Amino acid sequence: MSAPLVDIQDLKVVFDTDDGVVTAVDSVGFSVMENEVLGLVGESGCGKSVTAMSILSLIPSPPGRLVSGKVIYQGRDLLSLSREKLRQVRGNRISMIFQDPMTALSPLHRVGAQLAEALLVHGRAGKKEAMAQAEAWLGKMGIPDPKETSLAYPYELSGGMQQRVMIAMAMMLDPHLIIADEPTTALDVTTSAQIFELLSEMRKDKTSILLITHDLGVIWETCDRVLVMYAGKIVEQAPVKDLFNTPAHPYTRELLKSMPTIDGGELYAISGQVPSALNFPAGCRFNDRCPDAFDRCRREQPPLMDLGGGRRSACFLAKEFVP
Ligand SMILES: Nc1ncnc2c1ncn2[C@@H]1O[C@H](COP(=O)(O)OP(=O)(O)OP(=O)(O)O)[C@@H](O)[C@H]1O
Ligand code: SF4
Ligand SMILES: [Mg+2]
Repeated sequence: MSAPLVDIQDLKVVFDTDDGVVTAVDSVGFSVMENEVLGLVGESGCGKSVTAMSILSLIPSPPGRLVSGKVIYQGRDLLSLSREKLRQVRGNRISMIFQDPMTALSPLHRVGAQLAEALLVHGRAGKKEAMAQAEAWLGKMGIPDPKETSLAYPYELSGGMQQRVMIAMAMMLDPHLIIADEPTTALDVTTSAQIFELLSEMRKDKTSILLITHDLGVIWETCDRVLVMYAGKIVEQAPVKDLFNTPAHPYTRELLKSMPTIDGGELYAISGQVPSALNFPAGCRFNDRCPDAFDRCRREQPPLMDLGGGRRSACFLAKEFVP
């Protein structure tokens, strides 16, 4: 097993809203190992994006508030770095790919110039060399005419092309970690498959990836390990094969059951609703939807227990599920 690249410890993030305090991420801890693709899954609102954005201190504050937590990278806590020091890490050593490429691209500048600027700002190349590298990266991203595309403004490109430019921006500086938050949700199936192919290529270049997606098929094909979040907490962690073969948390089992099947059969829906982050139920936060719930689950919150073999589960019954 490789060494931890980034170690997230006891992360708790809340939002102060008119309705009360929203607990978005609650005591979350995990490591991203060197040269791995780590998947992060869970239903909408469970805290995936807030977790990802917290790693680079991108949570808007207010209304967001970091209650506790550390993000240890190369012996330093990123959450206590000055803005200037953090800027040296952001984009350079740890970069993000968002669902909407326009979050990362400026509408006012030609894409080649934007890529070149990123190289210049981080001192990776002189002006002429930066422009040449920018074009080369567009080519690597499978963009058919890199020279012409480098002169285009983002609005002149299709969504898939914009996404490739953003991925080039994220990859170009040879980061140690790329955080990809639903990177292809807005794209068609073919383009999406090409983007995942590119991400897999990057992993061969020894870049780690934290991949957030709703698509368990993509998780199966792309990831080494998986984290499952529910209601602001990690409820299961496992190597990808173990998670699919012997899920150690009823929520994971329900998620797997709700995967679309090849024969196009009727989709299974997990019963009930995700609880409001304003007011989680007492005990296990999954208890009102869990087919296995019993009395203790309504009184006590199960801790995230170590099951060995790189597996963790926050369910009182975990040991019964794992052989
Ligand atoms: N700016 C904000 N103000 C108030 N609440 C917020 C804010 N951003 C996120 N939240 C809340 O934090 C919780 C976690 O949100 P998050 O965006 O991390 O979910 P997610 O798992 O990424 O969901 P999705 O799959 O829909 O992207 C949700 O309850 C959400 O409503
Ligand atoms: S602790 Fe209880 S309610 Fe929670 S997942 Fe396990 S069995 Fe279900
Ligand atoms: Mg999200």
